[in-house]
Amino acid sequence: MVPYAGRHMLEELIRREFNRWAEEGRGRGMEKSHWEITRQMIDLMKVDSHDNIVDLGCGVGWATRVLAQKAPSGLVLGIDLSDRMILEARSGYRNPPNALFLVADASRIPCEEGLFNSLLSVESIYYYPDLEGAFAEVFRILRPGGKAFFLVNYYKGNVYGHRWAKYIDIPVHLLGAEDYIALLARAGFRSASHRRISNSTPIPEDWTPTQWFSTRQDQAKFQAEGALLLEAEK
Ligand SMILES: C[S@@+](CC[C@H](N)C(=O)[O-])C[C@H]1O[C@@H](n2cnc3c(N)ncnc32)[C@H](O)[C@@H]1O
Repeated sequence: MVPYAGRHMLEELIRREFNRWAEEGRGRGMEKSHWEITRQMIDLMKVDSHDNIVDLGCGVGWATRVLAQKAPSGLVLGIDLSDRMILEARSGYRNPPNALFLVADASRIPCEEGLFNSLLSVESIYYYPDLEGAFAEVFRILRPGGKAFFLVNYYKGNVYGHRWAKYIDIPVHLLGAEDYIALLARAGFRSASHRRISNSTPIPEDWTPTQWFSTRQDQAKFQAEGALLLEAEK
């Protein structure tokens, strides 16, 4: 874990990086690449129409909006460290009235404890400078019996997803399922489990190499290995 003295500087670097992504339109692009795995996670969440839900590291808020439609009598709060992502989430879309957005770091969520039934986080936790603090904060804001669902494509078990980290200028955590489970237990969750979610999105015939995958076969293996889903209950 990063020492406290460096945390605020790291947060600023992360904010700058994701503000740049937002300005380049990459916030919107992530809906396409993350939808297939997120859709499967949302099915597992069994959202009730009255649920209060957090989307942690929400980017431009596409998953926040999906959840807000599934819980029309609850509140869905999208939180992100990047003010540009939140600006776009608020002003770039027609938002359901029960979808709200806040700029905050995951380890300092400005909400009372026990307010939320569930929390989802898509491709975000491995950036957190204070991951332990973030898990403790997620535990604090959930109701007893509330559940957190974290989805990550960057983790020890899927080597085909490791290449992209070379191309990003901010530090990222490369943890395995058991490392995450131990951190969730330490944060107080009474149970935590993990599973894989594979991605069946067809790979186009006219595929060309990207920063992420040098061969089409690597992308296919990455998708088949799947994302890591962590589920924790308070
Ligand atoms: C790869 S993007 C994923 C965004 C969104 N979940 C999606 O799937 O489109 C990671 C997001 O996590 C946010 N993030 C990174 N570190 C954060 C932190 N410490 N607290 C809150 N958000 C953070 C970034 O600003 C960015 O929007």
